Amino acid sequence: MIIRPRRLRRNKAVRAMTCETRLSASMFVYPMFVKEGRGIEEEIPAMPGQRRFSADRLPYAVERVVSAGVNAVLLFGLPEKKDFLGSEAYNDDGVIPKALNELKRHFPELLCITDVCLCEYTDHGHCGCPRGEDGYVDNDATLPLLAKAALSHARAGADIVAPSDMMDGRVEAIRAALDEGGHVDTAVMSYSVKYASAFYGPFREAAGSTPAFGDRRTYQMDPRNRREALREIELDVEEGADIVMVKPGLPYLDILSTVKDISPVPVGAYCVSGEYSMIKAASERGWIDERRVVCEAAFSLARAGADIIITYHAPELAGWLSRGEIEF
Ligand code: PBG
Repeated sequence: MIIRPRRLRRNKAVRAMTCETRLSASMFVYPMFVKEGRGIEEEIPAMPGQRRFSADRLPYAVERVVSAGVNAVLLFGLPEKKDFLGSEAYNDDGVIPKALNELKRHFPELLCITDVCLCEYTDHGHCGCPRGEDGYVDNDATLPLLAKAALSHARAGADIVAPSDMMDGRVEAIRAALDEGGHVDTAVMSYSVKYASAFYGPFREAAGSTPAFGDRRTYQMDPRNRREALREIELDVEEGADIVMVKPGLPYLDILSTVKDISPVPVGAYCVSGEYSMIKAASERGWIDERRVVCEAAFSLARAGADIIITYHAPELAGWLSRGEIEF
């Protein structure tokens, strides 16, 4: 007798019934760029199909996202002026609090997640405060600023704050500030395992956050390391992270899978700007089928252990899912 695994592959219906991984739109988070100002809706050249919006234009854009079936957004703020200490990052009237006010008014059910970092707000483009001659980013001096930023987002209605700076101890500092401010229900989704990756290239164009000197290797993780990722997860869970995240996505599926095995909290995966732009570029040239590649990538992240998938393709994915246009 031959054992025939092909029996369960012979048609679409049997494949659908027996598939091991399922996607749901409730897993998707859509990252969006919010720019200070009014009436702004501008293309991001390195990320075809993505735009920067001012807070007043945001509800129109989010309407399309929500009607596609996505109920969570991750907001990045682009201030008008940047300075050494990134003071706009923790301005209660800054770009993110303004965006949150708009969104909470128009979409009370929408899950609003905010990126907490300084790099979009500092004139040097680093995620923390550099010090001295060599510009080494000062971990402990950065913590109170991140805590202030998270608190300003929570006050304006953020449901989840997501620190992406990779300073040690920031989850604890943020959790303490939120609790002290009475925001005990605001969750922390930590970018726990964030590698110093070249896949963030298009994002830095989108956010104008390329470091003016040096790079982020003294705070983001070394791509060669795996056990260190487990340590970062343990620390963030101890410090009170409600959700942990691995970033980038596809090049780090092994990390995602190991993190899923040990994490007591939900695990997110961030399919980053470079992953998005590579798919866009190749599909624009007709070299790959965009829909099939995007779906395959999303299933791969889910298969490796992602409970939450953060992707610039979230509205498309949700649309394909709801219309039954995802075929295997
Ligand atoms: C800010 C931040 C970055 C990304 C998310 N938050 C950029 C960076 O660390 O350089 C990257 C997201 C993407 O590439 O899609 N620290």
